[in-house]
Amino acid sequence: MEFTVDTLALISINYSAMEFKDTILYDWDSRLEEIANDASDIVVLSDSNTSVYCLPIFKERFKHEFKSIEIPSGESNKNLDTAKEVWKKMVSFNLDRNALMLTLGGGVVTDLGGYCASVYKRGIDCVHIPTTLLSMVDAAIGGKNGIDFMHLKNYLGTIRLPKAVLIDPTWLYTLPEKETRSGAAEMIKAALIYDLTLWRKFQQITNIQGFCDRELIQKSVAIKQEIVMRDPYEKGLRKTLNFGHTIGHAIESFYMKSSAPLTHGDAVALGMLLETKYVSKYVDPSSGVYEEIRPFIEMHYPTLPKLNEENIEQIIRYMLGDKKNKGNVILSVLLREIGSPTWDLELKPDEVKELLRH
Ligand SMILES: NC(=O)c1ccc[n+]([C@@H]2O[C@H](COP(=O)([O-])OP(=O)(O)OC[C@H]3O[C@@H](n4cnc5c(N)ncnc54)[C@H](O)[C@@H]3O)[C@@H](O)[C@H]2O)c1
Repeated sequence: MEFTVDTLALISINYSAMEFKDTILYDWDSRLEEIANDASDIVVLSDSNTSVYCLPIFKERFKHEFKSIEIPSGESNKNLDTAKEVWKKMVSFNLDRNALMLTLGGGVVTDLGGYCASVYKRGIDCVHIPTTLLSMVDAAIGGKNGIDFMHLKNYLGTIRLPKAVLIDPTWLYTLPEKETRSGAAEMIKAALIYDLTLWRKFQQITNIQGFCDRELIQKSVAIKQEIVMRDPYEKGLRKTLNFGHTIGHAIESFYMKSSAPLTHGDAVALGMLLETKYVSKYVDPSSGVYEEIRPFIEMHYPTLPKLNEENIEQIIRYMLGDKKNKGNVILSVLLREIGSPTWDLELKPDEVKELLRH
């Protein structure tokens, strides 16, 4: 076989895809011990809640000595100031390049911890131990790390695969219900873009706790895994994971400053609803997706609070700042039919404004 630049590129993608497949584990203690044995030092990053609910259990399960770093919980702390505090601690612990970072927490901890690890001394190994539903099915999978910057979501970041992602649904026993609802939105998104059968299963769930089922979690993880493996560099298919996020992120950013911020999943659920409504209204009136998902989303998620013109302008400004845009054109995922998304659909600001008014 003659190696051309293209085949070499393909081989390197396949290799990283294989590597990625092996990183996700459901039965984890022995693998974690193995990884830990190779590390010169271990630091566990948790937040003020997972330090209470998860760290004591983790300590009982994990045989190695480790150092701890705790950050305050919540999205408002996924920023440069917190990252700086983490790096300062890492320096004070004198961690070398063979040190290992374990992130024990939700998406804020895995995103920020993965980011801090990926740039410390040009990158040390990291293992994610996601403890929220959202981080199990989404945030910890796929190697995207990052922090928010100037109220813009995930504006600074890196792409670097963790050494492993250890998924154990038993962490979810202590998770507040609104956080379960938040994670469920990403599972719903995965089913809507990729797996009609899974969506049909979800439709039968009447209590949000039903999403914490091990098998449903594994199916949702497998969808994200498959999409990331098929398009590791986000040239096309991987963009479909942003379904619901173009409008959802803008709504989330808008509510971030309010006294009652929406969870990421609540915002994504509203985003999925509005983006499918956009399709019905402006792109393809024969698509029945909006009508199909609406009763389910409205049963499980809060409705969008009434917005005034100034609020709507602000949300559009956030959408215009979305990093997936091309120039001033807002790009989004189009879902005409469940399981068959397309991407790079232009959302016209005036039409989105109209949707947000009703
Ligand atoms: N990197 C990616 O590909 C990706 C994908 C999706 C979302 N994200 C990011 O994930 C973040 C949201 O993640 P999240 O919803 O997990 O939020 P989070 O990390 O803020 O966790 C939610 C809350 O649950 C608490 N908590 C965590 N585990 C707990 C447990 N077992 N018991 C009790 N309380 C617990 C946390 O302290 C926090 O208060 C966002 O910043 C989003 O941008 C990243």
